[in-house]
Amino acid sequence: MAVEEAWWRNAVGYQIYPRSFADSNQDGIGDLNGIREHLDDLAELGIDFLWLSPIYPSPNVDNGYDISDYRDIMEAFGTMEDFERLLEAVHEKGLRLIMDLVINHTSDQHPWFLASRQSKDNPYRDYYIWHPPRSNGELPSNWPSLFGGSAWEWDEQTQEYYLHIFAKEQPDLNWENPVLRQELYRMVRWWLDKGIDGFRIDAITHIKKRDLQDVSKKLADTYMNVEGIGVYLRELRQVFDAYPATLSIGEASGVPAADAHEWVGQNGYFCMIFTFDHVHVWANDPKDQPHIRQLKKALARWQYALAEDGWNALFMENHDLPRSVSVFGEDKKYWKVSAKALATLFMLLKGTPFIYQGQELGMTNVPFQSIDEIDAVDTRRHYEQQVAKGEDPEAVFKKLARASRDNARSPMQWDASTYAGFSQVEPWLRVNPNKDTINLAAEKKDPDSIWHYYRTLIQLRKSEEVLLNGTFHIHNLKHRQMMIYERRGAKQAFLILINLSKTEAVFYLPFQVREQSWTLVLSNYSECLANVTDECCFRPFETQIYQRSR
Ligand code: NOJ
Ligand code: CA
Repeated sequence: MAVEEAWWRNAVGYQIYPRSFADSNQDGIGDLNGIREHLDDLAELGIDFLWLSPIYPSPNVDNGYDISDYRDIMEAFGTMEDFERLLEAVHEKGLRLIMDLVINHTSDQHPWFLASRQSKDNPYRDYYIWHPPRSNGELPSNWPSLFGGSAWEWDEQTQEYYLHIFAKEQPDLNWENPVLRQELYRMVRWWLDKGIDGFRIDAITHIKKRDLQDVSKKLADTYMNVEGIGVYLRELRQVFDAYPATLSIGEASGVPAADAHEWVGQNGYFCMIFTFDHVHVWANDPKDQPHIRQLKKALARWQYALAEDGWNALFMENHDLPRSVSVFGEDKKYWKVSAKALATLFMLLKGTPFIYQGQELGMTNVPFQSIDEIDAVDTRRHYEQQVAKGEDPEAVFKKLARASRDNARSPMQWDASTYAGFSQVEPWLRVNPNKDTINLAAEKKDPDSIWHYYRTLIQLRKSEEVLLNGTFHIHNLKHRQMMIYERRGAKQAFLILINLSKTEAVFYLPFQVREQSWTLVLSNYSECLANVTDECCFRPFETQIYQRSR
C-alpha cells in the first residue's frame, strides 16, 4: 500500500458503542443522530476517525454483534438516511468513519439461518456448520462456546447440531462455502461503495475451524487462528485492495507476535490488528495489583515484532473490557494521575491509538449491585451456569461483575444531570453514580483534567514526527513498577517514564540514557521536579515525558 494511502498511520481513532453514546430522541438508547450531535466534541479532542460498534438490525442478544440484516440500520439507532447524514457530517469535518464487520457469525434470526434450518437440502444449509450426533449419540465434539457451555446446539427440526462459538443465537458461518464467501464480499463492497472508510473486522481469527477428528490439546485452538485461515484472509484482502484508502483492522485474538508479518506486514491480511496479550495479563488475576511486568513485556513484544514491517493498533480499552483506570490504574485516591499514566503508556507507542468512549474522561467501572443490573450476555450466561453448578451466587456475581463488559457500556458521561446528559429518560443500562464529578462538561472547564491531558497527548503526537515514525526502545524491562521507553529518530528522541504502581518507585536509568540532556515536556503531577538523574524516585503513577534537547 502506498504510504499516502496509509492515512491511518498518522491518525487517532475513537471507538463509539452507539447504544451508550448519546440518545437524541429520548428513548433511553443511544443513536446515530446522537453521535452526529457530538462530532464537534470529538473534533475538539483531536481524533481523526470513528469506529462504530455494529449498527445493523439485530435482536440484540449480543448487542448488535448478532446481525439479522447486513444492509440496513437497527431501528433504535435510526434509519439509513440518518446514517448517510452522519457519514456526510463526519467527512465534512475532515474526519473518517469505519464500521464493524461481523462475518464469523450472524444472528439466528438472519434470513440465511432461518432458511438453513428449514431442511438438510435447503440451498442455505451450507451457509452454516451442521453436524449429526456421533454414532454413540454424543455431541459432534467437545468444543466449548466462548460464552459458556457447549459450542453445539441441537436443532429439533432437522435433527442435527449447529456450531456457535459465541451465544447459541450467533450461529457460525461456514467459510468453506465459496458461495457464502462471495455473498459476504458483495456486502463489504456495498458498504465501501457508500463511502465508508474501512472496517474493524470482528472475531476474524475464528473463521476457520479444525477438523472434528483433530483432538487438540488446547481446546480454544480448535477455532482460533487455525492453519489454512490465510486462504480466506487473502481473498478478503483482495476485496479491500480494490478500495485503496480503506482501513482494515482485524480483531485478532490468538495471533502470536511470531505471526505478525503474515497478518499485518507489507503483504499482510490487514492494515492493523487488535491483539490482546497486554490486556489479558489482568483478566484472571485474583490479586489487586496487575501484572505490570507482563503488561510491559506484552506491549514491548508487539512493538519489536512490528518494528520494521507492519503497524500496531494501540488500545487499553474497548466495549469488551472493564475500564482501564479501574483495573490497571486506581480509581479512587489516584484516579486522575493513574488515568493519565495509562494514557501515556499507550498513546506514545508506535502505532495508531484508539480511545474508547469515556476513556478520555477517566470513566471507571460501575458499582453494579446485582446480576439484574447486568445486560451482557456472556456475564449472564456464565453466572447462570456457575450458579447452576452450586457455586455461591454472591461470590460468582462479585467475581463476574468486576470483569464484566458492561463496565465499559454504561452511558457516556457528558454532564452532571440525572442521566449524565446521555438522555433525559432512564437509560437501558445504569449510569455510573460518579457522573457528578466525572463528566465532559466538568473536565472541559478544568485545565488539569484527564480530557485535557488526552488532548495534549494527541497534539504532541501530531506535532512530533519522531512520535509517528521513531523507533521504540524499552529500558529497565525487569523493573516491577516502571515502564520506561524511548522513541528515537535521526535527530530527535522522546523518553517516557511511567510508574504503573500505586507505590513509590526507585530506579536507575541506563548510562546511555542519563548522559543525554533531556527537557521535561509533560507530567501528571503539578509539582514535578525534572528528574533524569542517577537514582530516580517516582511517586505513585507518576509520569514524565522528556524530549532530547541536543
Ligand atoms: C468480539 C466483539 O468485540 C464482542 O463484543 C462480541 O461479543 C464477539 N466478538 C462476538 O461477535
Ligand atoms: Ca434514542
